[in-house]
Amino acid sequence: MFRDQRITPQQHIDFSRRFGRLMIHVLHQFHLAGHPEILTVSNILEDGKPIGLGDAGKYWHSDISYKELPSLGSLLHAQELPSEGGDTLFANMHLAYDTLPAALKSAVEGRRGVHSYLAQYGQLQKEGNWRPNLSAQQIAQVQEVVHPVVRTHPENGRRALFVSEGFTTRIEGLPDDESRALLNELFVHSVRPEHIYRHKWQPHDLVFWDNRSLIHLAGGTPDHLRRKLYRTTIEGDAPF
Ligand code: OGA
Ligand code: MN
Repeated sequence: MFRDQRITPQQHIDFSRRFGRLMIHVLHQFHLAGHPEILTVSNILEDGKPIGLGDAGKYWHSDISYKELPSLGSLLHAQELPSEGGDTLFANMHLAYDTLPAALKSAVEGRRGVHSYLAQYGQLQKEGNWRPNLSAQQIAQVQEVVHPVVRTHPENGRRALFVSEGFTTRIEGLPDDESRALLNELFVHSVRPEHIYRHKWQPHDLVFWDNRSLIHLAGGTPDHLRRKLYRTTIEGDAPF
């Protein structure tokens, strides 16, 4: 985390690019004008229209885990912050794996999980007004993919759980009810309080996190308070 970064969107992009290719979010509606590498995360309406994704992070997730090459990390830069709420929570998925009860550890060994951008999309459309209907082209960009449930971090060699409520829909090769039950146990375990860091935003904070090691959640902002952040997302390698 870097406090008090008074940088422009172009500087945010240039810095992010030093770590890899930048991913362009499928919701082009919420790209920052002139900078498709930046996704606007905001609950603000201008002329009655959302300027950004207002419900980003409503469910625990790792950014863009629904692609063959998920994200290595994301950089979120605070633009406008509410006077209360608006925290972002991070759960450590290495710890989550290390502390899994033995029965769960063996249940996930060698398993693969299905990840889909659409996992919660319909639900999010029902809960709020942030989610546009996806075009056929957008749907074509988010075909579901399969990743190991336990991945090895390519840089530190540690194992991490790699499933989330936001994007993981089922465990391959298990009957639906078993898959659902196992995922629910993993979701609950992942976000035990001792695995969590809660970020309280300060003006101009730039937070850079590792999507291979963490899942994250928007803690929620009261509707009447404005919040706006800019996000870049760096492409990573295929999980193994
Ligand atoms: C994101 C995200 C959470 C938040 O931008 O990827 O999940 O607190 N944001 O805004
Ligand atoms: Mn996110």
